Amino acid sequence: MDLRKALLAIRLVGLRTAFRAVRAAWERDRWERREKRPALAAWQSVEPLRTMIPLPDGARFTGPGAELEIRFLAPDVVRLTWTPGVLPLPYAIARERLEEVRVAHREQADGWTLESEALGLEVRADGGIRFRDGAGRIWRAEDPPERRGEAWRHRVRLRPEERLYGLGERAAPLNRRGRVYRMWNRDPGGSYGPGADPLYLGIPLWLSLHAEGAYLVFYENPFEAVFDLGASEPEAAWVTFTGGALREYVFYGPPPRLLERYTALTGRPPLPPRWALGFHQSRWSYESAEEVRAVAQGFRDYDLPLHAIHLDIDYMDGYRVFTVDRRRFPDLAGLIRELEGQGVQTVVIVDPGVKTDPGYAVYREGVARGMFCRLPDGRLYRGLVWPGWCVFPDFTDPEVRAWWGEHYRAFLEAGVAGFWHDMNEPTAFVAWGEPTFPDCVRHAMEGRERDHREAHNLYGLLMNRAAWEALRRLQPDHRPFLLTRSGWAGIQRYAWTWTGDVESSWAALRQTLATVLGLGLSGIPYSGPDIGGFSGAPSAELFIRWFQAAAFMPFFRNHAAKGTPRREPWVFGEPILSIARAFLRLRVRLLPYLYTLAWEAAQTGAPLVRPLFWLNEQDPALWEIEDAFLLGSALLVAPVLEAGARAREVLLPTGEWYDFWSDAQRAGPARVLAEAPLDRLPLFVRAGSLLPLAELEGVTLHLYVSSEGGGEGVFYEDAGDGFGPYRVDRFEWWWEGESLRIHRIREGELSEPEGGFRLEFHGFAPARAWADGRPVPVEGSTLVTPPFTELILEGRPVRSPA
Ligand code: GLC
Repeated sequence: MDLRKALLAIRLVGLRTAFRAVRAAWERDRWERREKRPALAAWQSVEPLRTMIPLPDGARFTGPGAELEIRFLAPDVVRLTWTPGVLPLPYAIARERLEEVRVAHREQADGWTLESEALGLEVRADGGIRFRDGAGRIWRAEDPPERRGEAWRHRVRLRPEERLYGLGERAAPLNRRGRVYRMWNRDPGGSYGPGADPLYLGIPLWLSLHAEGAYLVFYENPFEAVFDLGASEPEAAWVTFTGGALREYVFYGPPPRLLERYTALTGRPPLPPRWALGFHQSRWSYESAEEVRAVAQGFRDYDLPLHAIHLDIDYMDGYRVFTVDRRRFPDLAGLIRELEGQGVQTVVIVDPGVKTDPGYAVYREGVARGMFCRLPDGRLYRGLVWPGWCVFPDFTDPEVRAWWGEHYRAFLEAGVAGFWHDMNEPTAFVAWGEPTFPDCVRHAMEGRERDHREAHNLYGLLMNRAAWEALRRLQPDHRPFLLTRSGWAGIQRYAWTWTGDVESSWAALRQTLATVLGLGLSGIPYSGPDIGGFSGAPSAELFIRWFQAAAFMPFFRNHAAKGTPRREPWVFGEPILSIARAFLRLRVRLLPYLYTLAWEAAQTGAPLVRPLFWLNEQDPALWEIEDAFLLGSALLVAPVLEAGARAREVLLPTGEWYDFWSDAQRAGPARVLAEAPLDRLPLFVRAGSLLPLAELEGVTLHLYVSSEGGGEGVFYEDAGDGFGPYRVDRFEWWWEGESLRIHRIREGELSEPEGGFRLEFHGFAPARAWADGRPVPVEGSTLVTPPFTELILEGRPVRSPA
């Protein structure tokens, strides 16, 4: 830590905590020394496998030193487990079996083959494994794994053109190849910039694209690991775990299918309450009810849409979790009601550390009931966080999860709409070394009694599970909203995430795109940055460019660190204020589209923010685009990422594109120079798609007509919260000679929209229309039609080339 960082840290945590951090580091070192494990021998290859025992869905292979089990979960999903080693508790897994599979077994000269309908595995006696498709092409090749004590590692061959994505939250290029990554959830401290590793939320998975296809591998092993993706050997990835069985799930198919399968296994992201897709305003901290009121008032005075306000740690009484400072928030429930009356929801921060204070009920009760993590000698482990010395709930114990979950009750009764889980890597301040628990801290692990090495990466996941289960129990008619800083595979079942304490710089804004894209490809569809960066003071220009980009990300929140200049949109004056207002309004217009994408994510695991190669993974030109992204499959967003830029180059993939602002048409593939004055962000709509937007007249379905082919799109609607009826309208259209034929399939019990559907056409001028045979009046490029199954339109295509 350099001096500047150290001083900043002291300012944020206070001098007393800073001194204690020295003691905390010293205590941790003492424990690490006491519990030191013996030095490790050299890595050794497993001895050859000798026998294969066929199973209906796989096989078991045994050798003198190791066993390999292969099970197909579906024809295109296979699980491989090398033991000896601790098997993972199935915390990440939502469903054990996806489809029935029958596997064909064959013995060969130097090994065996297993085949499903979709893929084949060649298992060599020495432990090397090749994955083939139906045509025999190899798309993944593993060398025999090696062991050292309880650790496993293996080497995976990489093809020269192969790109790798994922690994959870990373401040790395979208294509992760060529670097080394650590799997160990960690607060980078202070604020981080591009290149920092690890961050708060790692996921041991990657998605690979190469000339022979695409696959995804998920290593179900929570121990600390190193993923060397072609850094030390350009054509190989080395994956090294420090403990646990070597278990991987391998999925084969195009990227949308991979995410669909991966989230079938680890769980789909549930539909959030609709307000969560709106705009969130936050700051560390709004310190009193008056301040919160004033902020909300500011949004009204300046006519800025606002959906949620976040209360950071200072609402608590001395940072004691689950308390409220009654001097500064004398009537929290009243304040929340007031805000709700203005359409603003309240989200409160909840940290896992519980202040060691005998006068504080959560501490007292937790100690009495044995809820906190212990050291090997049976004493409570204490670590430092905002309140000073804290103890930490052991979320790997189901009783602790239930106990912790009960504490959300009072907040729910007060009207709190969502919870923001922070510091759950878990983080404990130290003057040097790892900012977390010592390795030897004990965890129940569902009765298995293990230590922090195995529990560390699961801590955030399980804190969110505790809260999720409680919220579902306590408020069965509401959809939970949880935001978390840390997590692991499966976290998408419970929570959204944000990209943490990112620095305020243009480089960090650029990095945010790759980070959010990478999270989406790791199964986490809801994320976004602190607009303007957490620390520092963004210039007005950086702030508004960041704001514009974030307006197209699933989690849209303005947040900043203590001690930074204020960041509410009006503090920058004009023209920033008006530009922010325009993008807030655009966000509101986009809500029906975002909500439809959220529904789609809940059905298929598809992230809302997608890399350009989502459209066509076979086009290598799209493999490394990280300065633009897709929002759903209709919008291509190209944020401005450079100071002073008033235009930027955009790569439009194959197909026809509309400029969102002007409706000008462009043909891809093409590199175009897009205008980007300060109040614009280059934005394109893919021809052949449908964009449901909230207009003054209600939802309007914008059809972007393609001159060549048809198009399709979905519109999802429900009450915005709860689990009541919904309606899905699937539209498909195509040309029939000169007329356009639109077909609608309706699903769900929600009634048809009152007043029918409002359609607006782009690239097509309707002249006459018939809904299920009855004429419908046309007005310019729009029409309002009663609910229909088939809409036939006569008119003419409109060409407006850029
Ligand atoms: C952590 C969080 C940040 C929050 C702060 C105080 O640094 O990442 O968002 O404002 O703690 O709670």
